[in-house]
Amino acid sequence: MSAPPTLHVSQHPAVLHKLAILRDERVEPKKFREIVRELSWLLGYEALRDARVRPLTVRTPLEETEAHELGDRIGLVPILRAGLGMVDAMLELMPTAQVWHLGLFRDERTLRPVEYYNKLPDSATVDLCLILDPMLATGGSATAAIEVLKRWGAVRIKLVNLIAAPEGVAAVSDAHPDVHIHCAALDRQLNDRGYIMPGLGDAGDRQFGTGKAE
Ligand code: PRP
Ligand code: URA
Repeated sequence: MSAPPTLHVSQHPAVLHKLAILRDERVEPKKFREIVRELSWLLGYEALRDARVRPLTVRTPLEETEAHELGDRIGLVPILRAGLGMVDAMLELMPTAQVWHLGLFRDERTLRPVEYYNKLPDSATVDLCLILDPMLATGGSATAAIEVLKRWGAVRIKLVNLIAAPEGVAAVSDAHPDVHIHCAALDRQLNDRGYIMPGLGDAGDRQFGTGKAE
């Protein structure tokens, strides 16, 4: 697969360093959540580089000067459950963002997304939506979320993932070539259970300590 122009894989050394910790199977949920949070901040920072600003005037202790403030109304859309761990860091970056939760889980047999929570109001209230989900695997969940947001009236949508699979990137970019994808890594492939290889395992279970006992 040649990478679509909408795919942005961070090359930042801090991202690479934290990603190695996240992948390590020995990392406990507390540390895992901490790294999810730190990576989210860094990826959010990169994803927002073309957010719109508007001019304003501020007075420094010395004189008045032209400055800027965020002009876009930003909507954060975490995909439950695993996307929850990305919200706090994004809110630190953009304290005025709105947060709209979407509940989707992947049917383990069909790998198709099942929607179970959506309380979006009738029409879009933001200019730029960032969908937050650590994993882009088959792309089913991301595509479903994008379709919900487009029906809602969202025009500018970006996906922020920690790890993406080529299959998921292709599914999203084929169906929604306008949606940019920001991630920390583009991994090799999916396995026969739809898990990203090498990946990090189940992002929800690793954050919330709900993996199957050995
Ligand atoms: C994971 C992940 C994505 C989805 C990705 O969630 O957080 O939402 O799988 O897979 P896809 O690209 O093939 O759709 P999961 O369904 O495991 O739910 P959870 O967050 O509640 O654990
Ligand atoms: N969801 C996860 O949490 N991990 C994967 O590898 C694929 C989907």
